[in-house]
Amino acid sequence: MKSVFNGLKEPVITYFKKNLVKEVAKAADVLSDKIQSLDVVDKISINTNQLDKKRQIFYYKPTIQHKIKSDNLNQSEMKKITLSNVLSRGFSSSSTNVVKIYSSLCTQYYELDKPYAPEDALICYSNYAAEAKGSMLEPMCGTGRFFIPLLKKGYNITGFDNSSYMLDICRKKCEQEGLSGKLLDASFENFSSSFLYQLIFIPSGSFCLLTEKAETHHALNIISKYLEKGGKFVFEIDTLRSVNENQGIWNKNSVNKPDGTKIVMNTLSSFDSNSRIQSTLSRYELWENDILLETEVENFRLRLYDMFEIEDLLKQYRLLVINKSLPYTKKRPDDKADAVLYECIKL
Ligand SMILES: C[S@@+](CC[C@H](N)C(=O)[O-])C[C@H]1O[C@@H](n2cnc3c(N)ncnc32)[C@H](O)[C@@H]1O
Repeated sequence: MKSVFNGLKEPVITYFKKNLVKEVAKAADVLSDKIQSLDVVDKISINTNQLDKKRQIFYYKPTIQHKIKSDNLNQSEMKKITLSNVLSRGFSSSSTNVVKIYSSLCTQYYELDKPYAPEDALICYSNYAAEAKGSMLEPMCGTGRFFIPLLKKGYNITGFDNSSYMLDICRKKCEQEGLSGKLLDASFENFSSSFLYQLIFIPSGSFCLLTEKAETHHALNIISKYLEKGGKFVFEIDTLRSVNENQGIWNKNSVNKPDGTKIVMNTLSSFDSNSRIQSTLSRYELWENDILLETEVENFRLRLYDMFEIEDLLKQYRLLVINKSLPYTKKRPDDKADAVLYECIKL
C-alpha cells in the first residue's frame, strides 16, 4: 500500500493530519482486501476544492481512486470512493467519541428542527415573566427559544448553558435582532451570581437532563440560593409515562441545511427502570449528496420521574410547590400525564 502514498504530492500531504493519513491507508488496505475483484492501482487523490487548513479533517473529502482490473470491464470505468463512504460502510474500525454535551451537529439539528418555542409554552412563561417584576434567570437556555422572545419584551433576563454551540446560536440570533442578552457559558456546577432573581425557570423538560442524584441536588441548591424569598421557580419534568415506546429500535429523521447539505439523525433509546434513566444514543451525520462529511454521537440521558416524586426533593431546598399542571394548561395532571409543570415558591 506504500506505493499508493508515493503518488501523493508533498505540498498536499502537508495539509493532512497524521491520523487521517493513517485512516486513508487503513481504508485502502481494507477495501482492497474486501473487494476481491478490484484492486487499488491508482494513486490516492485529494479533492482540494474545500481545503481549508482551519477546518476539521472531514472537510477535506479525500477520495480513493481505483480502476477495475478485470479484462471484461472497460478500463475507463474509474471509480471514486470517498474515504468517509469507505469508513461508513464498515470497512474500517474508526470510532467516534460519544459525548454528553450538545455539540455542533446536534445544535444545528436542534435549531433547524425547533427554531421557535411552541406558542402555548411561550405564552405560559411570558405570563410568569410578566408577574415576576424583577430579574429572571433561565438555566439551560439553549438556543434562546424562550430567552430571546422574553428579552425582546424588555425583561431583565440572564441565561446560562453548558454548550458553547447552543450559546453561539443564541448569541447570533440576539445580534441579528439588535438585542444584548446576558448569556453565560456555565453549568450548575460553576454558576454564580452577585444578585438574586425573582423568577428562575427551566422549560421543556430540560431539568430531566440532570440525571445523577448529586447533580439534581446541586442544581436545586443553586436555584434556591439565587432565588429571592417569595420568588418563583417554574419548571417541567417528564414522567415515567413518557418512556419511549420504541426501545431498541433505531429511528431516523433529517433536516435540510440552507447550504444544500443534510443532517441525518439516528436515535436509539433504552430505559433503565432501576435508575429511571432513559438513554438516547443519537448519531448525527452531515451529508452532501452521497458524501458523508461529518459524524457526531451524543448520548442524551433523561431522568424520568414518578408523578409526585420530585416534591419532597423540592421541599429540602425550601421550594414549596404551589401549583402543578399539565404543561401550558390549567388542568391538574393525572396519573396518565407524561409531563408536569411545577410552580414553586421560595420560602
Ligand atoms: C433540549 S435543550 C432545551 C433548551 C431550552 N430549555 C429550550 O427549550 O429551548 C437543553 C439544554 O440544556 C443544556 N444543558 C444540559 N445540561 C446542562 C447543565 N448541567 N448545565 C447547563 N446547561 C445544560 C444543553 O446544553 C441544552 O442547550
